[in-house]
Amino acid sequence: MIEYGNWHISASGYRAHAPQHLESLFCQSNGYIGSRAAFLQDGALPYERCTFMAGGFDYISPGITDIVNLPDLFHFTATVAESTPGQSGGHYTGFHQTLNLKNGLYTRGAVWTDEQGRETAIKISRFISMADKHLAALCIELTALNHESEAVLLLGLDAGVLNLPVHDDQTMVNHQTVQMLKDAGGKSGQGLCGLTAQSRTGRLTIDMRCRVTQSDGTQEDGSTADCPARKLTVRLKQNQTVRAEKLISVNGPDHPPPGDFTSWLEESGKAWALRWENADIEVEAEDPQLQAALRYNLFQLMQCRPFDDPNVSVGARGLTHARYKGCYFWDTELFIQPFFLYTNPAAARDLVRFRLNTLPDARENAKALNLEGARYPWMCAVGGKEQCHTWDIGRSEIHITADVAYAANEYLRVTGDNSLRDELSQLFVETARYWASRFSYDGIKDVYNLLFVKGPDEYCGVSSNNAYTVILARHNLQLALEAAENGYAVSPEEPAKWREIIEKSQVGYDAERELYIQDDDFLRLEPFDFGGRETDAPVYRTLDYDRLQRFRVLKQADLILLILLLPELFTESQKQAIWSFYEPTTLHDSSLSFGIHAWAAAVLGKRDKAMAYFNKSLFLDLENIMGNTGTEGIHAAALGASWQAAVFGFAGLSLGGTGVPSLSPRLPDGWSAMRFAFYANGKRYRAEMTRDGWSIREKGEEIL
Ligand code: BGC
Repeated sequence: MIEYGNWHISASGYRAHAPQHLESLFCQSNGYIGSRAAFLQDGALPYERCTFMAGGFDYISPGITDIVNLPDLFHFTATVAESTPGQSGGHYTGFHQTLNLKNGLYTRGAVWTDEQGRETAIKISRFISMADKHLAALCIELTALNHESEAVLLLGLDAGVLNLPVHDDQTMVNHQTVQMLKDAGGKSGQGLCGLTAQSRTGRLTIDMRCRVTQSDGTQEDGSTADCPARKLTVRLKQNQTVRAEKLISVNGPDHPPPGDFTSWLEESGKAWALRWENADIEVEAEDPQLQAALRYNLFQLMQCRPFDDPNVSVGARGLTHARYKGCYFWDTELFIQPFFLYTNPAAARDLVRFRLNTLPDARENAKALNLEGARYPWMCAVGGKEQCHTWDIGRSEIHITADVAYAANEYLRVTGDNSLRDELSQLFVETARYWASRFSYDGIKDVYNLLFVKGPDEYCGVSSNNAYTVILARHNLQLALEAAENGYAVSPEEPAKWREIIEKSQVGYDAERELYIQDDDFLRLEPFDFGGRETDAPVYRTLDYDRLQRFRVLKQADLILLILLLPELFTESQKQAIWSFYEPTTLHDSSLSFGIHAWAAAVLGKRDKAMAYFNKSLFLDLENIMGNTGTEGIHAAALGASWQAAVFGFAGLSLGGTGVPSLSPRLPDGWSAMRFAFYANGKRYRAEMTRDGWSIREKGEEIL
């Protein structure tokens, strides 16, 4: 059971939750380094103690990378009177973990009673600094409650960690660990430890330093192979707290900067406060858990944000797990970027720049597939080369290129920042060239088909003319046409060809039902029996993909997402028809699905469904709804989808055609008010709505 405060989440009990669930939930990150809340002290294995760095990839096979598990910066062990809490005979009482969402501080506390009945209160606190991306800190406090004994603490930097690469195919489980770190060299002396390690091929060099201080006792070298450490010996006196601190820097200065745990935390807290000023959504709701759950989603989104670095992006699991090898997907552009676009435009700009910076690789990708222009990879890591193992997805899920163009245009539309316009014109034109070479012309019917593609719904096999992909590709072509009209140089025949594809590309449509058809095969698929589903565990775990792809069943939002991205292309009755036809046949086996359905349901006036889907998305990781938060990490796209459901769905924020923000609140039952800040066109606004009305203010002035 997770407990929800206003600004924190907590959990009670030792090993009382699904395996590794809390390690994911309490993961801390500043977008540069991220560390799962797994401790050696609890017996966590070398591949379970995970620390990742944005862009920290290295090769595991030719051309394919994994995100390197870095040395354990929070490494520590403690023994009290020769008993090791959590490991030797004895037991914990009052075991409690808390994540403070306001300042990113994680604490855990418990009383350890050893076999002789000696009781020791243990408190561990840690954070990763939001003020300086290189810094992190750990603090351990021990209080003997009914005894006087000797305690020994080891605080170090441990390179004895491993990677456990996760196969892209979600049905395959790997048990083979890989040593990604080599040549780890460490030293320890005078309260300091340092460790330098290389990743497998030498692509990364990781340099960690720490300064260890204590309130009492002695300190000496406690290093072992791969783990420079300080050994602290202290005499515990009854009811007196002994405190040890480890101040860590990762790839930072030679010595961790001055200060202590408290002062570093204060600085980090200030940086968090600035972020919260723009990101918080306040909700007055009957459900007491909702506010904290919403803040948890926002907190994790902020933790995902690459720290001022346009050469990295946001992995599908942020820095919380090595699932998908840490790779970047369309998740970033369509699910995560909107949050930053409206709350931190500079962060959104970096995400757009990442795609601009990887345009040369996108060109190479197109060329390697005998196509023209630039093609963005389904999954990427270092640069923009394809990292997807599986042919059907890696080769066929091509909508990502149009998603990237769509999101880049959203950046221009929402921020009004024209400084990237020229470079983005190039992106629009080069991606349009890719589409022009990817569509197949049928001379007999005089139409263009998009053959052998997979839409967002990955359960429908490889089909043709997936409506989502075709319509977004047309949008991409349209962006290129506009770039050309605005002066971007293209060859004279290109605009005509792009226009022809826009006009003659094929999408299934049933005029009688006003229904867009997902793809050419969709109506020929067999109906799926939805009866007897008791959990939200994905069906691909029990039904083979080959069987699944012949059923008329969707994995996740496909056309339902499209009507939200390009609402002006559909009439109200077409939108309603899409919802009525596709929503009942969607399994939501991707975490990307619930939030999008919540948003769509809100917009289409389906209040109950909107709230039900919103709750699934909002509590997806908190309540381990898909059963894989522990083993796969935090689902970053679902966080962003929850934000979109709240802001675009329930608040109805829109910039319309004019760029002037407006709201159309559709507050769920039980919500009496909602407030948030946002940026648009370079201005900062505050939106507020109650059951009686709404307002948008700029610098305190009501504008609407
Ligand atoms: C989803 C994709 C998503 C990927 C990474 C898959 O299960 O179907 O849409 O991009 O996970 O989150």
